Amino acid sequence: MKPLLTADQLALRVAELGAEIAADYRGQPDLVLVGILRGSLFFLADLARAIDLPLRVDCIGLRSYDGTVGGEPRITADLVNDIAGASVIVVEDIVERGATLTTALAMLRARGPADIAVCSLLRKPGLVRVALPELRYVGFDIGPKFVVGYGLDHDELYRNLPYVGVLEG
Ligand code: IMP
Ligand code: MG
Repeated sequence: MKPLLTADQLALRVAELGAEIAADYRGQPDLVLVGILRGSLFFLADLARAIDLPLRVDCIGLRSYDGTVGGEPRITADLVNDIAGASVIVVEDIVERGATLTTALAMLRARGPADIAVCSLLRKPGLVRVALPELRYVGFDIGPKFVVGYGLDHDELYRNLPYVGVLEG
């Protein structure tokens, strides 16, 4: 598979996002990164290490895809930590229609955080169907094709590719 985004390009952009987030959140008392399982795991691990601030890491589970067909997002795992009063950054692998994020934001907002922003590694701008003012950080805008790697899967495979590639066929 030919890389759409190489490991070097990913590493460079993640470092930039981490520096930007560190500058924006410096002095905030309680920063929590909330990854959306499982696509964001690799990005979350790298991004957390690129943010030079004290922070907590947590996850929620949401599942919206069957193969390459997007459906209604279902919640499959809840937070471990209390996020009341915290500054939350939701960490997502990719925003396509925006349905997964809308579900995640509603669930997290009910827990009373002081603030919620979203950092997504990828976005398919042509396909986003809802307004997402919380989406403050985006790594790369890409085309509509289905991509895998660096956490993104097709039927659970390809997550461990060190780059992002277009799934052919
Ligand atoms: P949305 O709810 O339509 O925004 O879709 C977002 C979710 O669908 C992401 O969290 C991914 O899990 C999955 N997804 C969307 N596009 C792709 C893709 O190109 N490759 C792998 N997963 C994708
Ligand atoms: Mg996902």
